[in-house]
Amino acid sequence: MNRDTPFGSRRNRLLATLGEGIAIIPTAPEVTRNRDSDYPYRFDSYFHYLTGFGEPEAVLVLIGGDSPRQLLFCRDKNEEREIWDGYRLGYEAAREHLGMDETFCIDELDAKMPSLMANQPTLLYPAGADRGWDARVFGWLNEVRAMARTGTRAPASIVDVRSLLDEMRLVKDAHELDTMRAAAAISADAHVRAMRMAAPGRMEYEIEAELLHEFRRRGSQFPAYTSIVAGGANACVLHYRENSAVLRDGDLLLIDAGCELDGYASDITRTFPVNGRFSGPQRDIYALVLAAQHAAIQAVAPGRSWDDPHQAALSVLVEGLIDLGLCQGTPESVIETGDYRRFYMHRTGHWLGLDVHDVGDYREGGQWRALREGMVLTVEPGCYVRPGAGVPEAFWNIGVRIEDDVAVTTSGCEVITSGVAKSIEDIEALMRSGTD
Ligand code: GLY
Ligand code: MN
Ligand code: MN
Repeated sequence: MNRDTPFGSRRNRLLATLGEGIAIIPTAPEVTRNRDSDYPYRFDSYFHYLTGFGEPEAVLVLIGGDSPRQLLFCRDKNEEREIWDGYRLGYEAAREHLGMDETFCIDELDAKMPSLMANQPTLLYPAGADRGWDARVFGWLNEVRAMARTGTRAPASIVDVRSLLDEMRLVKDAHELDTMRAAAAISADAHVRAMRMAAPGRMEYEIEAELLHEFRRRGSQFPAYTSIVAGGANACVLHYRENSAVLRDGDLLLIDAGCELDGYASDITRTFPVNGRFSGPQRDIYALVLAAQHAAIQAVAPGRSWDDPHQAALSVLVEGLIDLGLCQGTPESVIETGDYRRFYMHRTGHWLGLDVHDVGDYREGGQWRALREGMVLTVEPGCYVRPGAGVPEAFWNIGVRIEDDVAVTTSGCEVITSGVAKSIEDIEALMRSGTD
């Protein structure tokens, strides 16, 4: 049996942590978009982390203890459905293929689960994640409880299995890092393509199409999130997603877009001038955000606190906001009063992995947690200047964010999205070179 895979070793690690008990991890349901059309299917991240299996209607069951068992329920082969919808692995082939001890047809789930849960001290599942699964799992639990007079015990404690898996997912293994580097490289090239294609008169959605083209051409299955292609003042709308406006000469274009590759997200933001040349005020804000990002990246290393990159970015930004006349007072007072939040209202990053805002606690024992080798985070300071009283008009409607994906290494960090231009000189040179 082939259990020598990253997925097999993750299951073994989970089994070692959970001790005595039974873990139930279903994949995601298919979701109707409208009438007969479904949304493109995306597996559940936890399920995929442990199986690498991409079909819907599947449930992983892990039984801990002295003789651990790894079981999978999934669809059977079905010639008729395979003619219409495509290949199914089938539960018989799944055993060898996915390295399970036993596999069953998903139709047997309700019949088999109560006896599998019987006499297990602990039940681990993603409690509260889905009402349908909650009802089903509690139904099985009640069936086990009803067997009490036969001497059968039902699990006495229920643990959210995500609390164990989140900690595992937070530190990426070599297989995950390789996939994330590959996703980052595709996204970086997509941003380069977007920079080359941008020009006054083009529409934001035309540039979005260039990003999607590069993602898909290179084998990415989906964008990791809805791409933000925001020209001019739209860049000051943090979650702008309409992507429907014309790009204007003299405006900046902020693009926040990243592909998902084999389940793993990338997340890049670049901001550049539509006409290929930064104006003076645009240059001022851009250089400030870039300096803040540089300071934040310098603060990513094992043993540093999660909050260090944010604080590093914030002190650079606040000094710059004061120098540019956007904030008044001393750096300490601007930080103390939070006045900078008029221009910088989000934090400097988040964990990145199977989910773009990936799992994992940011605090541990009441403190910001320490960074460790294998963690992957984004570093994404920004500055967004909406028109307003007392705000120098030269900066109105300039919105800049610069975002890279950074893996913590043994001694510092690796910027895995470095394949796309970031300095003012490199961006202007790239845009001068146009399409080749
Ligand atoms: N693209 C989502 C984010 O930057 O957090
Ligand atoms: Mn991000
Ligand atoms: Mn982003």
